[in-house]
Amino acid sequence: METFFYKYSNPVDNKNAGIEIRKEHELSQDEQFLLKRAGLDSYAPLEAWTALGTNTQISYSTHGIFRYFGKFPSTIAAHLIMQYTDEHDMVMDPMAGSGTTVLEAMLANRDCRSYDVNPLAVLLQRVKTTHLEEEKLLEELKHISENYLPLPAEQFDWQPVGIRDVDHWFLKETQDSIRGLIYLINQIEDEKIKDFFSICLASSIRPVSRATTQQGRLFLDVVTAKEDCLDTFVKKAQKAIKAVASLPVSNSALEIAEHDASVPFSFGPTNKLIIVHPPYFNSYKYSSVNSLELSWMRINHADVRKNEVREFFKVGKAENITHYVEDMQSTLNIITATLLPDGVMALMIGDTIIKGEYVQATKMLLDKFLADNPSITVEKVVLRVPKYTEASWTTSQRRTSDKVGVSLNDFIIVFRRNG
Ligand SMILES: C[S@@+](CC[C@H](N)C(=O)[O-])C[C@H]1O[C@@H](n2cnc3c(N)ncnc32)[C@H](O)[C@@H]1O
Repeated sequence: METFFYKYSNPVDNKNAGIEIRKEHELSQDEQFLLKRAGLDSYAPLEAWTALGTNTQISYSTHGIFRYFGKFPSTIAAHLIMQYTDEHDMVMDPMAGSGTTVLEAMLANRDCRSYDVNPLAVLLQRVKTTHLEEEKLLEELKHISENYLPLPAEQFDWQPVGIRDVDHWFLKETQDSIRGLIYLINQIEDEKIKDFFSICLASSIRPVSRATTQQGRLFLDVVTAKEDCLDTFVKKAQKAIKAVASLPVSNSALEIAEHDASVPFSFGPTNKLIIVHPPYFNSYKYSSVNSLELSWMRINHADVRKNEVREFFKVGKAENITHYVEDMQSTLNIITATLLPDGVMALMIGDTIIKGEYVQATKMLLDKFLADNPSITVEKVVLRVPKYTEASWTTSQRRTSDKVGVSLNDFIIVFRRNG
């Protein structure tokens, strides 16, 4: 067994954020079973990786400023980057979500291309990697707090977009409170500071809404709704200010943009490492999960959905796997075209059990992808033991009965392009 710790771990307690790696002969019987059931036991070498540390310990730097459901532990990205790249090598994450990869790449002085189809994710990635001065942010926060007033729609015409019943998800008072904050944020002239406070507001939306905060999917939980958003916003902002003010002023070249990974990239094979963590089959639709935050950004989640991989969220039909694999196969082929000879791609993916039927999504995709790409070989297959706080773990616990629904197993397939 090997353990690795990363330098940006919480400085007070820096021996806690890391990753534990066990080799094939150290795998438990349960772990061997999981790999066999997935049809992945014929590959070698096999490993099991466990992220070490509590959520707080792995949420160092700006990792914790927004709760993006379904993100992977920061130390997994840190480990892949340290293992497979040198300073200023190009890392790419084409489905980057909350930006775990781009932040780790920046902290390790790597260059990075970071894309997503979801505009909220892209804004978040920018904010998480932009150093801003504490004094300026505190001054702006003071201005917002002192000038804040709830604003009814008659006074400020700003309505959420794309959610059918706004009153179902937000109390009337909450809507006015959010509008009051948006009014002030819109007046900020410095675009980077404006983006920063937009993310602070986005991270306050779920906690003040009538939706649960514990699951990605939107379920009603009226008890948690708050009439006033200011207090939540200020607390989120104070925490985020400390985090972005402690970011290093980066000399990494970062490109963060909206891009659909199924559309060819404008550059050729230039990436040393690609980390790709797509939506899992039958698990999450990110545009839906983030629909409340997007609505206040006046972005219709249905427009984002059009470009997303078809993951069949909520459908629960095992036969749809062929469409998922089809989408992912063509998307991975496009992504792979940007990999340098001898470069590495780490695919983080999960399998699903639907009504008792184990769906070998990973294996199906792997076979098709390898057939399409003779220059690519499998370097290792990793069983990722999820942290108990991760979405995939909670999903599997929430619906443990095979009859009801979905449980997940996570894998990392590490590929190498032959030199
Ligand atoms: C599992 S999440 C990635 C989470 C990320 N690893 C993190 O730590 O935050 C998958 C992401 O893929 C994005 N996505 C879905 N379809 C896409 C597409 N066609 N092109 C680019 N991104 C896509 C979703 O918006 C979502 O943010």
